[in-house]
Amino acid sequence: MSSPGKATVETENGRRADRTVALTGATGFLGSHLLIRLLERGCHVVALGRRDEHAVARSLALALRSAGAGESTLARIPGQVTPVRIDLGRPRLGLPEMRYRQLADTVSAVWHCAALTTLNGDPDALHLANVEGTRRVLEWTESGARRPHLHHISTAFVAGRRSHGVIPEERLPAHGGFVTPYEESKHRAEELVHAWAAAAGRGATVYRPSVLLSARRALPRAPRHTYAVLAAKMALVLRQLGVAAPGSAGRGTGAPVHVRLLGNPEATVNLLAVQDAVTSMLCLADRATGRPGVAVHHVVHPHDTPVSLVNAAIERTVPGLRLSLVTERDDPTDLERGLDAYGVEVTAYLGLHRTYARAVPADLERRRVTDFPRPIDSAYLDAALAPPTHLPRVPHAPHAPNGQAAPTPRG
Ligand SMILES: NC(=O)c1ccc[n+]([C@@H]2O[C@H](COP(=O)([O-])OP(=O)(O)OC[C@H]3O[C@@H](n4cnc5c(N)ncnc54)[C@H](OP(=O)(O)O)[C@@H]3O)[C@@H](O)[C@H]2O)c1
Repeated sequence: MSSPGKATVETENGRRADRTVALTGATGFLGSHLLIRLLERGCHVVALGRRDEHAVARSLALALRSAGAGESTLARIPGQVTPVRIDLGRPRLGLPEMRYRQLADTVSAVWHCAALTTLNGDPDALHLANVEGTRRVLEWTESGARRPHLHHISTAFVAGRRSHGVIPEERLPAHGGFVTPYEESKHRAEELVHAWAAAAGRGATVYRPSVLLSARRALPRAPRHTYAVLAAKMALVLRQLGVAAPGSAGRGTGAPVHVRLLGNPEATVNLLAVQDAVTSMLCLADRATGRPGVAVHHVVHPHDTPVSLVNAAIERTVPGLRLSLVTERDDPTDLERGLDAYGVEVTAYLGLHRTYARAVPADLERRRVTDFPRPIDSAYLDAALAPPTHLPRVPHAPHAPNGQAAPTPRG
């Protein structure tokens, strides 16, 4: 791996810019797609990860390959990526003073993408990683002599319990509360970014993606999108229950399992291909002026996807499972209770009727600077939810409520 230095790149609008950028979360689902595009632009990337530098380098290579990086992009890693081990929970990111400042002075932009993404995870752990972690990244960004611009990855779900209306692209008050501790932690992190930019007179861009998908089948142990994880977990639960598709080679009765999810049968969810999200974010990043202040952008699809379409795709992916949306439910089964408790992503957002302002992305599409996001239809969902090549082993499935395996919510 190389040492960080100066890299000159051409931006989407044809300007040349000096770009040595820092990226947290590069080993994750979104971060790996972002890294591919940064590398292809010629950026030198300081990849800030929580494991030792060899482990980060190995994870990056796997994540990038899984995300579809070609050999020419993978070949850029040794020359363009500097993995650095950091600890988001410690002062100075756990780095020695000299290294801390020297790294900060090297970068012209900081992309903060790392986060703990378990929607219903332990609130203290979420706070530590997402709120305190953002605070540490802001301190580091401020210490840089080149006054790097901050690109902060938030989430559309900072809107919390707001269920109707158009969510504006601006600072959102916390009143109304949050559905999950994840949302709350991401909202607090956004608040820190606003306070930091105002106090330090610095520039930041906040991106609020909705739920991101990929139609590529992930490699084993590589990061996956939320619904792929969910479908895999549901398949695991059914295997534990001994349910197998009629006529399949698996053990089991073949009797389908009917799961009633609490929600509006007309419910919709905003889903966006991760590649389209990254294109949009990089275009928005190129518009950063360098002036103090925070620009907030929703990175969402212009059209919501009916939850019934997603459920139908999950049913095709997980033979033996039948899903329905019901507004009331008597006598929930153990499985339904287990999904309520652990599968927040299944139930939490089904009653939303809100939409998201997306002024600049819509303008860029109108002017054909970017393409319209690809449609999220049945064909796309089937590809996105295709079963993994390796299902997790059954016997060690943790946290099983009532003896069943528990889905691990992510966001
Ligand atoms: N995926 C979505 O649908 C979606 C939607 C809206 C917003 N977002 C936001 O997008 C960002 C990336 O999400 P993702 O889906 O790519 O998540 P992910 O696949 O779970 O990746 C999370 C990344 O953060 C790193 N990380 C987590 N805790 C850390 C810590 N304590 N210290 C250092 N690094 C840490 C992980 O490192 P390891 O590899 O070491 O675990 C990984 O690189 C997050 O900010 C998330 O809130 C995602």
